[in-house]
Amino acid sequence: MRRGSIIQIGAIALVAGAITTAVATLIPWMPVAAGEEATRIHFVYWFATVISIVVFSIVIAVLIFAVWKFRAGPDDDSDGPPIHGHTKLEIVWTAIPAVLVTSIAIVSAIVLAQNSRAGSDPLNVKVTAQQFAWTFTYPNGKTYGSLMLPKGRHTRLDIISKDVIHSFWVPQLSQKQDALAGQHNFIVITPTRTGTFPIVCTELCGVGHALMRSHVTIVEPAKFNAWLKGGAQAAAGPPGLAVFQQNGCGSCHTLASANATGKVGPDLDNLKAEAAKANRGSLEAFIKESIVKPEAYIQPGFSDVMPHIFGTQIPSDKLDQLVQYLAAGSKSS
Ligand code: CUA
Repeated sequence: MRRGSIIQIGAIALVAGAITTAVATLIPWMPVAAGEEATRIHFVYWFATVISIVVFSIVIAVLIFAVWKFRAGPDDDSDGPPIHGHTKLEIVWTAIPAVLVTSIAIVSAIVLAQNSRAGSDPLNVKVTAQQFAWTFTYPNGKTYGSLMLPKGRHTRLDIISKDVIHSFWVPQLSQKQDALAGQHNFIVITPTRTGTFPIVCTELCGVGHALMRSHVTIVEPAKFNAWLKGGAQAAAGPPGLAVFQQNGCGSCHTLASANATGKVGPDLDNLKAEAAKANRGSLEAFIKESIVKPEAYIQPGFSDVMPHIFGTQIPSDKLDQLVQYLAAGSKSS
C-alpha cells in the first residue's frame, strides 16, 4: 500500500477514535464506584473499552477508506479483480485478537481472584432474601431491613433465600449475587466511600419483584461501631415496629407509622375498616389470621401472593407484638 493511503487511513482512524473516546468518557455510563471491588471491575471495563475503541477505529477507517477509494463508477458493471488469500494478513488478524482477548481474560481472572479475598477479619453479615424484602443479620444477632457498613473494612455477605431465587445488587458496589434457598452464596464488599446506595433485586421473583428494594448506608468505622453497639434502629419505636421492619413487611404494605409505602398488598392503615368488612372476629384476630394464614381472607382487588411462611418464621411473642402494633396503628388513624 502506498504511504499516502496509510496516512489517510490513519487520519480517519484518529477521528473515529476521538469520537468514540468522547462517547465513552463524556457520558457517565457507570455509577460511581463505592468499593475496592467495584473499582477493580471498572478497571476491567475500561481495559476492554480501550481495546474496543482501538479495534473499532481501525476497522471503521479501513471500511470508510475502501468505500471512498474503491467505489465503482456510475456505469461500471464489470467484476473486480480476482483476490486470493493473503497468508501474512490472516496470521496478523488472527494473532492480534487472540492476544487481546487473552489479555482481557487474564485481567478478569486476576480481578475475580482479588475480589473474593475477605482478609483475616471480615465483618460477616447474613443477607436473607424473601418475597419481597431483604433482611440483614449482624454477628450480634440483630436483624435490620437495610444494610449499614463501615468504610474501609472487608465485609463478607452470606446470601441466602427463604423461597424463590432472588439476586442481590448494589450498582455502586458492582457485584451481583444470586440468593438461593438452601445454598449460601458469598460476596466481599470493601466500601471506599460513605453514602447511601440502593439495593436492588435483579431476579424476577414474583409480583413484588420491582419493589424488592432496600438501601446500604456506608459510614465511618467509629459511627458504625456505635450504631452496632446501640442498635439504634431497632430500639426506636414500639417493639412491633422492629418486627415489622425485620420481616420486610414495608416492601409490600403501606403503613404511615412505619414510613412504609409498599403497594403489593393491602394498605395497613385501613385495617380497621377492612376487618369490619371481612367480619372474621376481632380486629386482633383478623390481623393475626391475615399474617399466619393469609389465604384465609383475600381483600378484594388483591390476590394470594403473601408468603405463607410468617406463621412459622415469626416467634409467637414477636407475632403478638406485631399484631398489637398494627391494631394500634389502625385504630389511631
Ligand atoms: Cu426478589 Cu426479584
